[in-house]
Amino acid sequence: MTTRIVLDCDTGTDDAIAIMLAALHPGIDLMAVSTVNGNVALPYATENTLRVLDHIGADVPVFAGAAHPLVRPDLPIPRDILNADNPEFQVAYLDLAPSVTPAQDTSAVSMLIDTFTDPANDDVVLVATGPLTNVALALIAEPRLASRIRRMVLMGGAYVGGNVTATAEFNIWVDPEAARTVFSAGLQEIVVVPLDATHSAPLTRADCEAFDALQTPAGSAAAALLRHRIDQDQTPESLKSEPSAPVHDPLCIAYLIRPDVITSAGRFPVSVETAGEQTLGQLIVDARPWTSDPVNATVALTASADVFRHVLLEAFALDASS
Ligand code: RIB
Ligand code: CA
Repeated sequence: MTTRIVLDCDTGTDDAIAIMLAALHPGIDLMAVSTVNGNVALPYATENTLRVLDHIGADVPVFAGAAHPLVRPDLPIPRDILNADNPEFQVAYLDLAPSVTPAQDTSAVSMLIDTFTDPANDDVVLVATGPLTNVALALIAEPRLASRIRRMVLMGGAYVGGNVTATAEFNIWVDPEAARTVFSAGLQEIVVVPLDATHSAPLTRADCEAFDALQTPAGSAAAALLRHRIDQDQTPESLKSEPSAPVHDPLCIAYLIRPDVITSAGRFPVSVETAGEQTLGQLIVDARPWTSDPVNATVALTASADVFRHVLLEAFALDASS
């Protein structure tokens, strides 16, 4: 069975791996990619997305979206200050050839509205692996979209902890108002793939070698991107059994191909902190059994690295013409 998806992302090394997985795996039909301000400023996210698709020879339309968060002028801490202690982790341009294919003239928000209001697309899953600005803008411009998006899978938040602050994960923190808008919109099904799940299934240097051994454009690119992530990972070595790094975004795609990649999950009322002095952008997962707040999301808690690497290897062995 093939799942049709639209991928909204902020490419980004792990988004790049998600794009290749979605474009190449026969279990996914990648209809469109939209880009958003996040890991890098919007023009870089769009160019990087085009580079990835050109690199693997995939013919998928790319739509540029929001250059700024929904209500804030910028990230809560500007990107250059935020990245000052680890400037090499998130480089502006991915190390791939400049794109030759242009982005579409239509905006990402228009594309999302057009796609999801079309009854012929009832089966299409929306996957978001960046800040939720484009999705929130589309829901605000066309509130009927909330009942038209039948299923959404997103990378963001954490059940416990954070990565950009002690309590917040990057995608939700970049645009907390957008994230809150999405979680309160009344979508029928939201699956959250948070840090807890992605950190439980890190990839290793052996995976880099396995990707390289495929001798495909996707395999080589994935190996280089993963090596970079492992080299730059800031988790103390004492907390790892071997050098490794979480590769967050493609876990959302892997979940649509092999749901058993998620090994435990719970259903909870979920919202987002938009005002906290120390908790801005925290995903609030209400695990109280007696809560009366309505359940609005499934939250993945753990994942299988073995299933994850199997799905990635299946995809990266292929090229876009096969
Ligand atoms: O916190 C990890 C997430 O933030 C990933 O989606 C990464 O690409 C960045 O957007
Ligand atoms: Ca991302």
